[in-house]
Amino acid sequence: MNTAMDARPPRHEADPVLTIEDFSVDYLGANTTHAVKNVSLTLGRGEILGLAGESGCGKSTLAYGVTRLLKPPALITSGSATFHSREGFSVDLATLGGADLRAFRWDKISMVFQGAMNSLNPVISIQAQIEDIFTTHRPEMKKAERVERCGDLLERVGVDRSRLKSFPHELSGGMRQRMMIAMAMALDPQVMIMDEPTTALDVVVQREILDEITRLRSELGFAVIFITHDLPLLLEISDRIAVMKAGEIVELNDAYQLYTNPRDEYTKRLLASFPSLTGKRGDFIRTGIADDRLTETDQEVVAS
Ligand SMILES: Nc1ncnc2c1ncn2[C@@H]1O[C@H](COP(=O)(O)OP(=O)(O)OP(=O)(O)O)[C@@H](O)[C@H]1O
Ligand SMILES: [Mg+2]
Repeated sequence: MNTAMDARPPRHEADPVLTIEDFSVDYLGANTTHAVKNVSLTLGRGEILGLAGESGCGKSTLAYGVTRLLKPPALITSGSATFHSREGFSVDLATLGGADLRAFRWDKISMVFQGAMNSLNPVISIQAQIEDIFTTHRPEMKKAERVERCGDLLERVGVDRSRLKSFPHELSGGMRQRMMIAMAMALDPQVMIMDEPTTALDVVVQREILDEITRLRSELGFAVIFITHDLPLLLEISDRIAVMKAGEIVELNDAYQLYTNPRDEYTKRLLASFPSLTGKRGDFIRTGIADDRLTETDQEVVAS
């Protein structure tokens, strides 16, 4: 029986925060690469959308393209990306230039880059690097408030505020990566695009950071495009998952549907390439998708 709740359209249709339409990117050269081909997808407000696919399939290019961070020889050959603000206005990112685009990028859509933790300035303290965001984007903010906010941000991602005085080399890799996430959250953006934010980290630290991201998402209501080749991880944290292959989205579905009923051959192969998902090696650690939605067989795998 259809209840009123069942009839409600999914979040990405009812309340989109980012619409990507027919987006294509080439890398021009002697052998031009069609890195992203006619990608369309909609991100719902507060949604975590996973973007999976093997190395080189175009995930980062799509993320950089949408946020207009690509440089030549990359060329956006078709499509658009439109941001729909909580306040009710929509902006086609292609229409923003220079300063507007930079402001927009921190304020409304922020990014955690692949390997970003290595790009912190080594000779500037953590505090100065976070403060810089506020000085640039919130010039009216008083020094005392800035410092307070910097400390709050660190604590938000599970790092003690006493670390503000540290320099990047004095922090562990996990702490540096948390720093990057804290900085991306500084201005309360409505969308965060995270490109392999935890790949370089050991599983325990990775787990802690993912827990922070999902907790903060519930608390603050931002949406996330989470990019990784790690499909088991995406199954755990995502509402929906898009699978990308050779520049195209080959399948996009609710995470649980994609796991239990993959349609595309490539998705099936990708799922099968993780033995922990098929239960062949036991050790199934996926816990994020509500257990009551798992079948009995799934439960046994979880238990084993
Ligand atoms: N600056 C560049 N010049 C030319 N080709 C590039 C450039 N950057 C990326 N490419 C090509 O574009 C394609 C997509 O690359 P991209 O970095 O988007 O993949 P990815 O899915 O993010 O991979 P990974 O999982 O390894 O990060 C690849 O074929 C890559 O070789
Ligand atoms: Mg990449």
